[in-house]
Amino acid sequence: MAEHLDIIEGTKAEKYEALVPQIQAVIEDEPDMIANMANVASMLHETFGFWWTGFYRVVNEGEKQTLVLGPFQGPLACTRIRKGKGVCGTAWEKAETQVVPDVEQFPGHIACSSASKSEIVVPLMKDNCVFAVLDIDSENLSTFDETDKLYLEKIAALVKG
Ligand code: SME
Repeated sequence: MAEHLDIIEGTKAEKYEALVPQIQAVIEDEPDMIANMANVASMLHETFGFWWTGFYRVVNEGEKQTLVLGPFQGPLACTRIRKGKGVCGTAWEKAETQVVPDVEQFPGHIACSSASKSEIVVPLMKDNCVFAVLDIDSENLSTFDETDKLYLEKIAALVKG
């Protein structure tokens, strides 16, 4: 496994193109999901300088399921999110990536930090079920677009549940 992240420069697409194989190399032989989520959060966060980068995992609690905070980089975040709540809970319920240019316009957005202005949440799938989400927040409006969606969905698919 590589011991450091190569310096990555260029356009957003070029950065992702360079980052995806590095992420793959770091996590492909490691079966521990939490360790892999931790390294993916770190590599994305270091490369792009996002405000908050991390994972929430679907956890069974008796009859119910909830999203529980997983490995992340950035400030303190809310610990639990129910299905259908906020951007994360919506990505889970719909099993679809949510690109939110302005979080204040997203009904039910959960403000873990008032500094967060835009957000993308990508579901991680196993056997047609969401087992976690990758959540990235930016302190700028309209940070995320189809390029982020394309590459973050590729990166999310590398993390095995
Ligand atoms: N804003 C998210 C909650 C998680 S934090 O941003 C880290 C949401 O609405 O689901």
